Amino acid sequence: MPVLNKPRVYLETYGCQMNFADSELVAAILEENLAEMTSDIAKADVILVNTCAIREHASQRVMQQLHRYQQQKLQRPEVVIGVLGCMSSHLKEEISQERPWVDLVVGPDSYRQLPQLITARRAELPTSVVTGLDRYETYEQIFPRRDAGVNAWVTITRGCDNFCSYCVVPFARGRERSRPLSAIQAEMEQVVREGFREVTLLGQNVNSWREGDNRFPELLEAVTQVAGIERIRFISPHPRDFSQRLLEVIRDIPQVMNHIHLPLQSGSDPVLERMNRGYTASGFIELAQRARATVSELAISTDIIVGFCGESEADFEATLALVREVEFDSAFTFKYSERSGTIAAREYEDDVPAVIKGARLDQLMELQNGITRRRNSACIGREFAVMAEGPSRKLATEWMGRTGCNRIVVFPFQAGLLPGRVLPVRIEELSGFTLRGNVTQK
Ligand code: SAH
Ligand code: SF4
Ligand code: F3S
Repeated sequence: MPVLNKPRVYLETYGCQMNFADSELVAAILEENLAEMTSDIAKADVILVNTCAIREHASQRVMQQLHRYQQQKLQRPEVVIGVLGCMSSHLKEEISQERPWVDLVVGPDSYRQLPQLITARRAELPTSVVTGLDRYETYEQIFPRRDAGVNAWVTITRGCDNFCSYCVVPFARGRERSRPLSAIQAEMEQVVREGFREVTLLGQNVNSWREGDNRFPELLEAVTQVAGIERIRFISPHPRDFSQRLLEVIRDIPQVMNHIHLPLQSGSDPVLERMNRGYTASGFIELAQRARATVSELAISTDIIVGFCGESEADFEATLALVREVEFDSAFTFKYSERSGTIAAREYEDDVPAVIKGARLDQLMELQNGITRRRNSACIGREFAVMAEGPSRKLATEWMGRTGCNRIVVFPFQAGLLPGRVLPVRIEELSGFTLRGNVTQK
């Protein structure tokens, strides 16, 4: 077998925060065992792409990237190209048969094997496809390799058992499992040592975390004990599992921020039923109202899908009516995209025409943008505790940070300011969707 240099690995990531957190895990596994990471694709010996399969558009972008990597392979045939993440199990045949320049296909539960798979492939052993899902893998003893910053993502559950009928995640990531509390606490202590001040706990259904008799509220209470964590956030909770006790923990623990991301998906009961979401529109409204009544100054954001199978004009109107009633602080909105293998793909017809999906998305976004603007305008003249993150994207003399309720605020830079500092900022104006303010402290 030829002796090979330590390979340089270029890793590109698509998809949600869980996937970005997984890439930090992959970087840690590789650096520990085999490789060094590089941000220069032209110098990489190994090119990895951590993929997302949630909508057709996400998959298409990855396929385009794979062609870009093929160019690298044409110039340097020894380069190893690997596909990781949520597309790997879903599209393994398509990737390995139609894209022969792909050397490795490795699913989200098999990253511990990456060093050995890369080494074998570099030694000219055959292509590997390892996509089996493991109902116990939680990457317990591995500390992800994070770039410096203010917020650290900490995964607390993997996989999902909800099987919302439209969703590919339970197939791509397998059964839900909770990481042990001791591993989560150890990771939080580590991120404090690395200089992070805020932690966002991650899970596809984050509030279903459990260990023995302990549930998510007990986890929040426990992690609050980790010295040095000033702010705790979590995404994404499922409305069905959102207990009153959880609301009270958010109200009572100062480090737990006053923002919840509460995915709605639809405001129509028959659509929610077909989506297998496990709640009704009125149940969702009651929860949102109770949440705002329990936690003062609570911001609620959401996800909504338009054009799901069988969505009538009346169903869509019901979604608009719910959005008007709840007044979300912000929303991510999507056109339904059929994913093969899901329950919806098997049982329902994707029968809402593309133009109608587009028109409904526009209408929903227009409604929500007006509400977002109104709720942001209500912040003008008020003071918020803003955690500074770093220079704003536009001007070096300005910095950006976030309020507890997760609103981005831009303010003038002050000498000596460091990321992670919490400052009192008075909001002066709203430009576009951005709040601008001034630090009120002398
Ligand atoms: N686990 C999280 C969300 C995961 S995916 C939750 O349940 O809240 C993020 C969002 O993508 C979902 O909330 C949903 O709005 C959207 N989404 C998921 N599958 C989709 C599909 N097939 N087509 C369009 N949007 C989808
Ligand atoms: Fe998908 Fe539903 Fe699980 Fe979220 S809760 S990841 S939408 S199956
Ligand atoms: Fe995409 Fe997988 Fe996340 S499908 S949204 S990267 S869990």
